[in-house]
Amino acid sequence: MNNFIFNNPTKIIFGRNTIIQIGEELKKLGIYKVLFLYGGNSIKNNGTYEQVRNSLINHNIEFIEHSGVQPNPILTHTEIGIDLCKENGVTAILAVGGGSVIDEAKAIAAGAYLPNLWDAYAGKVKVTQALPIFTILTISGTGSEMNGSSVLTNSETEQKWFISAHCLFPKISIINPSVMRTLPWNQTVNGGIDAISHTLENYVMGKDQEISISIQESIFKSIISALDNLQIDKNNYESRASLAWASTIALNGIAGAGMGGGDWAVHRIEHALSAIRPDIAHGTGLAIIFPAYLKFVYEFNKVHLDRFAKNVWNCDSFEEAIETMKAKYKSWGSAISLSELNIEENQFSAIAKKALEQTEIGKLKNLSNEDVIEILKIAF
Ligand code: NZQ
Ligand code: ZN
Repeated sequence: MNNFIFNNPTKIIFGRNTIIQIGEELKKLGIYKVLFLYGGNSIKNNGTYEQVRNSLINHNIEFIEHSGVQPNPILTHTEIGIDLCKENGVTAILAVGGGSVIDEAKAIAAGAYLPNLWDAYAGKVKVTQALPIFTILTISGTGSEMNGSSVLTNSETEQKWFISAHCLFPKISIINPSVMRTLPWNQTVNGGIDAISHTLENYVMGKDQEISISIQESIFKSIISALDNLQIDKNNYESRASLAWASTIALNGIAGAGMGGGDWAVHRIEHALSAIRPDIAHGTGLAIIFPAYLKFVYEFNKVHLDRFAKNVWNCDSFEEAIETMKAKYKSWGSAISLSELNIEENQFSAIAKKALEQTEIGKLKNLSNEDVIEILKIAF
């Protein structure tokens, strides 16, 4: 077990009929003016918008709306949000949506105190101050509702980079699994595969951290079974709830405790891929790259990855487990190869260069440019 600090300050309010509590929670904290941030129309179509609006009005909380957050949120839209905060004197951000909306909320919250927000994503300045963030989660997967990270894309430079800071943990996140029943199936799958991948980023570093490894194996199994059930019945509340909570604990510090911070090479490669092709959902990119990465690093943690094969996929060999994992992802409708997304082999070196642009990557094996290209070839 590696040394670790666990300090997660986010209060979670989980379950049915919880969204209407937002007004009262904000009022208790003395917050009376928020930036109400959301994406497209999904929150209007499933009744979430109406519930949030009524709750804010009933508790005399003023709100400035900022809609149109894109999946894979971008810097320019964030900057408009920062200006809105400054012009209107808002004292908190309320994000209603998925990882993209929450990540942009964190960016706006930090940007309210910085002369140049992108400098923080570029690692030139540290984020030490932010407006308080509140979230209402409508799609599970990223874990952003209970962590201090934010991923943002600078479309001009095609860089998808991240920041992490303690002040970016949401103060309160409301998770009502019922609102997730309106998700298109592919979005439910993307979220589930994202959470499996967060767990894997830690799992690959496994050695003797039995408690964390056991929690991770439970997360894998819970998500696989929840997605199998939801494929048959999208209204299965218990499976939605299990998927949502498994996704939250996959990246809130609990499952990764003692794992030395995890590996995270696959996420960096995927961020490079979706920086070049923003139409590729994060979960889809991970579904393609992770099996290839596991094959590539197998020799560096054989015993543990054999355990993964047996305990998670019920397979006698690692090779068989990877094929079973890919077949499972495919059965959920996910793409499992880069060629399905019309990525060409001549784009590999640009993706590799981008993946290695911010810092070096890979803890289990420090990856060179050629290594990343090799992984992309396996994923092709
Ligand atoms: O824009 P709307 O209309 O709201 O539609 C959204 C969006 O199109 C839709 N949606 C959300 N809830 C819905 C719904 N549709 C119907 N019913 C509902 N209840 O789903 C689409 C995807 O939403 P998005 O927020 O983009 O998805 P996700 O939560 O997967 O977030 C992805 C982003 O998070 C980043 C990713 O890189 C990507 O930019 N990540 C953030 C992390 C973090 N902060 O810790 C870690 C992750 O590894 C990841 O990198
Ligand atoms: Zn992810």
